[in-house]
Amino acid sequence: MTAKIVGIGTCVPETVVTNDDLAKFVDTDDGWIRSRTGIRERRISKKEGTCELAAGAARRALAAAGVKPEELDIIILGTSTPDRNFPSDACSVQAAIGAANAVAFDISAACSGFIFALGIAQAFFQSGVYRTALIIGAETVSKVTDWSDRSTCVLFGDGAGAAVLKADERGLVDMTMGSDGTKGDILACTSRTLGNFLTGAGPKLGLMTMDGQAVFRFAVRKVPESIELLLERNGIKKEEIRYYVLHQANERIVEAAAKRLGEPMEKFPMTIDRYGNTSSASIPLLLDDMIGKDMLKTGDRIVISGFGAGMTWGAALLEW
Ligand code: COA
Repeated sequence: MTAKIVGIGTCVPETVVTNDDLAKFVDTDDGWIRSRTGIRERRISKKEGTCELAAGAARRALAAAGVKPEELDIIILGTSTPDRNFPSDACSVQAAIGAANAVAFDISAACSGFIFALGIAQAFFQSGVYRTALIIGAETVSKVTDWSDRSTCVLFGDGAGAAVLKADERGLVDMTMGSDGTKGDILACTSRTLGNFLTGAGPKLGLMTMDGQAVFRFAVRKVPESIELLLERNGIKKEEIRYYVLHQANERIVEAAAKRLGEPMEKFPMTIDRYGNTSSASIPLLLDDMIGKDMLKTGDRIVISGFGAGMTWGAALLEW
């Protein structure tokens, strides 16, 4: 048995923030952001928390799949920006949607969260432990963004995407996941602390820091490498892949990956222009967009691929 995606749902905050909006308070401009990243606008949460977005996406995914919340065996939520340290956002989503029979927990794999959640669910499916799963990537990155740092604040957006998985004969063909903790410092966010009464250390506000060029170099090497590995070990030729659904971090990263793979840009759909980098939510957001445009047909072979802080990465070969 393998995991098959039977429904996708997404939810983004109402508020649209354009590049011009950002240029009002940080030294940047629309031309720079568009040409260096492909981003035109992003959604930023005014009031919606990660759980609210995640539950919204979950409800839509369940409706698309025709699955009742009580049928879920497991909920795995990938996030780096949970609303609370505990309980997990997955447990909050469980309560919000009424998935009384599911076990629920969060995982921390940054932008690879959706792919890692898929991998964990797959292991449960293969072992026969569970048969119906909800995986979610949900983020409010805006709350850990340093809004005075123009090299990071223009890149990210908030949002959530969810997929209902069912045990099936076909679906997820194979996947690969990896981590390199030695590169942890190139993209990081330390915890917030109120200080330490023993040492007298004061409070610290944990905000995201990033070495953009190091992340860029890592991504343009790792994304094609993991996809090539996946295709090779399954004896699949690139011509047999209908679409490459890549984590939406930067249009130029997607273009560089396409070039290294020797594949045409038509096979690399994008939503980065509208949402920016929504971290673990970007892949389901893109899949949902493709479904809305009727781009995916039964039997299509697609590859999904993500990378993020950790550093972490993963790719999966799916038969739609
Ligand atoms: N607006 C205007 N100028 C900016 C800017 C902004 N928002 N951000 C940076 N710059 C400036 C820099 O200060 C620098 O100026 P200088 O030459 O005077 O020093 C110049 O633009 C070039 O900066 P550089 O960092 O070389 O740009 P870049 O082409 O590497 O693009 C990123 C920067 C961040 C867009 C790019 O490195 C990137 O996308 N990296 C990957 C990040 C990522 O994907 N993170 C999430 C992973 S999940």
